Amino acid sequence: MISTNGRTIAVLGATGRQGGQVVRHLLEKGWKVRALTRKPESKKAAALKALGAEVVRADLEDKASLEAAFEHAYGLYNMQAPVPGKIEVEIRQGRNAAEAANKTGIRHLVYGSAGIGNQETGIEQWDAKIEVTRIMKDLGLPLTTLRPMAFMELMTDPAYFPNTSVWYIWPRLSGPDRQIAWISIHDVAAIAAKAFADPDEYIGRDLPLAADVQSLEETREIYREVMGKYPSRFPMPMFLFETFVGKDLGNMWRWLRTHHMDLDTRPALEIHPQAMTVRAWLERQVS
Ligand SMILES: NC(=O)c1ccc[n+]([C@@H]2O[C@H](COP(=O)([O-])OP(=O)(O)OC[C@H]3O[C@@H](n4cnc5c(N)ncnc54)[C@H](OP(=O)(O)O)[C@@H]3O)[C@@H](O)[C@H]2O)c1
Repeated sequence: MISTNGRTIAVLGATGRQGGQVVRHLLEKGWKVRALTRKPESKKAAALKALGAEVVRADLEDKASLEAAFEHAYGLYNMQAPVPGKIEVEIRQGRNAAEAANKTGIRHLVYGSAGIGNQETGIEQWDAKIEVTRIMKDLGLPLTTLRPMAFMELMTDPAYFPNTSVWYIWPRLSGPDRQIAWISIHDVAAIAAKAFADPDEYIGRDLPLAADVQSLEETREIYREVMGKYPSRFPMPMFLFETFVGKDLGNMWRWLRTHHMDLDTRPALEIHPQAMTVRAWLERQVS
């Protein structure tokens, strides 16, 4: 364990779902947090400032801005958001973050990765992360890789259009009885905070993260039991869905029909036994 005293962790994607939770968990644990955003004047940035984070402008397309934002930070929570159909953007931005971290001497990177690890699948947002991980390893960066499986937030966050995506298209492509490994973003962030607190234990580790395994059919039943009704389904033809979100999600869900994601809940639960099941997470949404 190390002392957080006076040490700063820079967080990429701080105004987003994952980064936002990471900021909150790190502040609770006593770290100084530098929340990075392209829009420091936004409402989300103001909310982070109100929590006690320092908000700093940084753009993953602008390496100089990253170097300035990482200066004198001890750690970096590293993540990139995929741009549908443009795998090269996520890789380029990941390279920029890695090179800036290397130049500024970041002492611990926790990387918000995803998916199935080292096997290339043709799913762009998973393959990009394999490449970004390789870049960070080639630079010899002190790295902990978190590989969350499906976010529980997919079930309810309107930004994911769950009534069409999760409850209508996903079961059609993967099969309603396909086992899905789930974890909440809240618990991914709790695990990130534990990793930063104990670099000796976590640097060098690659952690597939799942807290519960439930098929989409089972998840839908749990949803009904907790919420008192089934989630509504909003049918949409595939070509229209892909017009909105690109082809990558559909490719991922078709892949899951014939392949398994990592269904092992032990790595997450050994680190963070309180990680929520699908039921506990849904109950939290109504409490
Ligand atoms: N959905 C799942 O089940 C799942 C599971 C595992 C992993 N993942 C991975 O999770 C990631 C998405 O995480 P999320 O949901 O937390 O993302 P999100 O909520 O969409 O947030 C994206 C963040 O990225 C920042 N950003 C975008 N472009 C940027 C740029 N050029 N420079 C600096 N910051 C930039 C945005 O900040 P500003 O706009 O404020 O600059 C925003 O805070 C993806 O990589 C995905 O593959 C998803």
